[in-house]
Amino acid sequence: MSQKIEALKSVLSGQPVIPVVAVESAASAVDLARALAAGGLPAIEITLRTPAALDAIRAVSAEVPEAIVGAGTILTPEQYDAAEEAGARFIVSPGATMEVLDAAGAGEAPLLPGAATPSELMAMIEEGYELLKFFPAEQLGGIAYLKALAPVFQSITFCPTGGVSPANVRDYLALPNVICVGGSWVAPKDKLAAGDFAAITALAAEAAALRG
Ligand code: 3PG
Repeated sequence: MSQKIEALKSVLSGQPVIPVVAVESAASAVDLARALAAGGLPAIEITLRTPAALDAIRAVSAEVPEAIVGAGTILTPEQYDAAEEAGARFIVSPGATMEVLDAAGAGEAPLLPGAATPSELMAMIEEGYELLKFFPAEQLGGIAYLKALAPVFQSITFCPTGGVSPANVRDYLALPNVICVGGSWVAPKDKLAAGDFAAITALAAEAAALRG
């Protein structure tokens, strides 16, 4: 069982910031995915933190061909399966259990699992994983921690998430062991609630331009 590295890499290397969102309805997720893709961020992680999440993934998958819809906050193999069945093209977990890794091994959608400590990273290497989420990035030690890991874990590349913001995103993206970051700032709750999708497209365009 190993990671579907090429498929995941093509998603994560396509944009510097993956929007991490929690949506209240499928309809608003469709508008949000369109707005983010219009700004240059087609890949979007819809977290399973709201009751609408699976319907939202299904709707974005069906109605927004320009988006690359992913599922986040996957904690169990059942959630992996449900997210994939809803149309998620990549799946993000804050950590890693053998059960979730097994589900990902049997499924098609590539998994981005979280790992942070040296032992967790060694366990993920043993399972054939190279692309990992680092969550919650700022609280775990942020840029200094990732710098310290780099010479030891040379095969590992991270997507740091949690506390990444316009103030520190450039420093994260400058690290050689960071492929992209995840963040919620490109889809602020107030703009979403107000239906201000033009503002979200503008934030996405700024984020998309962060890396060349
Ligand atoms: C995540 O789910 O990965 C994070 O909660 C997003 O963190 P942020 O809101 O600090 O960007």
